[in-house]
Amino acid sequence: MKILILNASPRKEGDTAYMAALLAKHLPGEVEILRLTDEKIAPCIDCRACRKQKGCALGDDFEPYAQIIQVADAVVLASPIWFGTLPGPFLSAMSRMQCFFSARKFRGEGASFWGKKGAVLLAGGGSGGKEAAFRTAEILLREMGVEGEIPKVVASDTDFRPAKEDASLEAQIKEIAKSLCS
Ligand SMILES: Cc1cc2nc3c(=O)[nH]c(=O)nc-3n(C[C@H](O)[C@H](O)[C@H](O)COP(=O)(O)O)c2cc1C
Repeated sequence: MKILILNASPRKEGDTAYMAALLAKHLPGEVEILRLTDEKIAPCIDCRACRKQKGCALGDDFEPYAQIIQVADAVVLASPIWFGTLPGPFLSAMSRMQCFFSARKFRGEGASFWGKKGAVLLAGGGSGGKEAAFRTAEILLREMGVEGEIPKVVASDTDFRPAKEDASLEAQIKEIAKSLCS
């Protein structure tokens, strides 16, 4: 089983990285943690070429990651909450998921990678809600072929207590690991 964890945080040893590593510890099989914001991935320019042709016309580092996403059996989106949603730099890279949307909507393709499991891990300093972040994460995961229920774990109040000091997280993350493997 191949499980992909997308880490949307720019902090290499932050709360999200801690949660992603904790989940990886409880997962069997092949687990890959990717930080797409480290790569040279330009935002979608809505050129609409993907409505007619396979893949994305912008030839940069995104293509290999599109393949990795497609072959995964499960995708987990791990992210800090920024202004109530997901970080802008991550959404910029993720805008390239539009070629997945076009494959499905305009070219009737993509079914080969549907049926994945998915989950969301969020970290928030404490100000503002998490609903919009979860909703955006869900839209992205659906585009990657995730079906069914999407469980989530939130590390809250990290401004006062880093995720690694939140003793309640491990049990919740273990449940997520179980749901991804069931
Ligand atoms: C630009 C920016 C915006 C943020 N907006 C929110 C927010 O709306 N709600 C919240 O709870 N925390 C917010 N935070 C705090 C982060 O979500 C929090 O520090 C998180 O634990 C960081 O995770 P990381 O260490 O994985 O990057 C924001 C942080 C930054 C840098």
